[in-house]
Amino acid sequence: MENVKLSINKYKEIKTKDDSLTLKNLEYNECYHSSEGALKETYYKHVSVMEEISKNIEDDEIRILDICFGLGYNTFVSILNRPENKKLKIFSPELDLELIKSLKDFNYPKEFKKIKHIIEAVSKDLYYKDDNIEIEVANEDARKYIKKLKNIHFVYQDAFSPKVNQELWTFEYFTDLKNILNKNGVITTYSVATPVRCALYKLGFKLYTHKFDIIRKGTIASFTDLDFPKVNFEEKLKRTECRVYKDNS
Ligand SMILES: C[S@@+](CC[C@H](N)C(=O)[O-])C[C@H]1O[C@@H](n2cnc3c(N)ncnc32)[C@H](O)[C@@H]1O
Repeated sequence: MENVKLSINKYKEIKTKDDSLTLKNLEYNECYHSSEGALKETYYKHVSVMEEISKNIEDDEIRILDICFGLGYNTFVSILNRPENKKLKIFSPELDLELIKSLKDFNYPKEFKKIKHIIEAVSKDLYYKDDNIEIEVANEDARKYIKKLKNIHFVYQDAFSPKVNQELWTFEYFTDLKNILNKNGVITTYSVATPVRCALYKLGFKLYTHKFDIIRKGTIASFTDLDFPKVNFEEKLKRTECRVYKDNS
């Protein structure tokens, strides 16, 4: 198979603290993962939450929106930790086709070896399906793509930071997410930024954070009560204005 070399002017390989590799995107001037560990961050911020909450979901199929695909860690680690007796359907937009096409040659952690055939299929065809897993990567703008979805259980909100990727953190964007989530809907994100929490709060989500001290805590937003540490956002709003990021601002 032809080895796809990534443009050295656009990406730089970075080794994170748990030894897993990530990239820095030199155009956005941001990394795809935290320096704490690409694998660790993926599992604790997103996948472990999906695993735990899925146990209480009756549906046979768990539908995940992965914003955005990047190196695919969130999708691939979800597959490696697929909840027992559940099928997974994963939807993921990604603008960067060069990156997706290169992923079959990316030096992933050794745990990913057993899903090499899935990584190759997604990298080549942007699609994979077997009896338990379906992955659709869409080479289009997330803002357009999400409007086509419905009945989503989990959104892994993992865009670059609001400073460089603001269109994926606005009130209008989170309103679109709210509209495609089902009654069990949960959003997981690394962000603890007040304008992000404010948007989620204004849209009626209950705000929680992560259980583990092993990694920096983020935000978990849910329509239903969860057995996770609560964020006392009402208390915060006594001292802070509830400002959100807006489209066209
Ligand atoms: C932080 S990275 C995602 C990391 C990824 N979840 C992973 O596990 O590797 C953010 C990704 O969002 C993509 N992106 C940024 N804005 C986008 C948009 N409007 N629509 C689709 N993809 C976008 C970037 O190309 C980048 O790959």
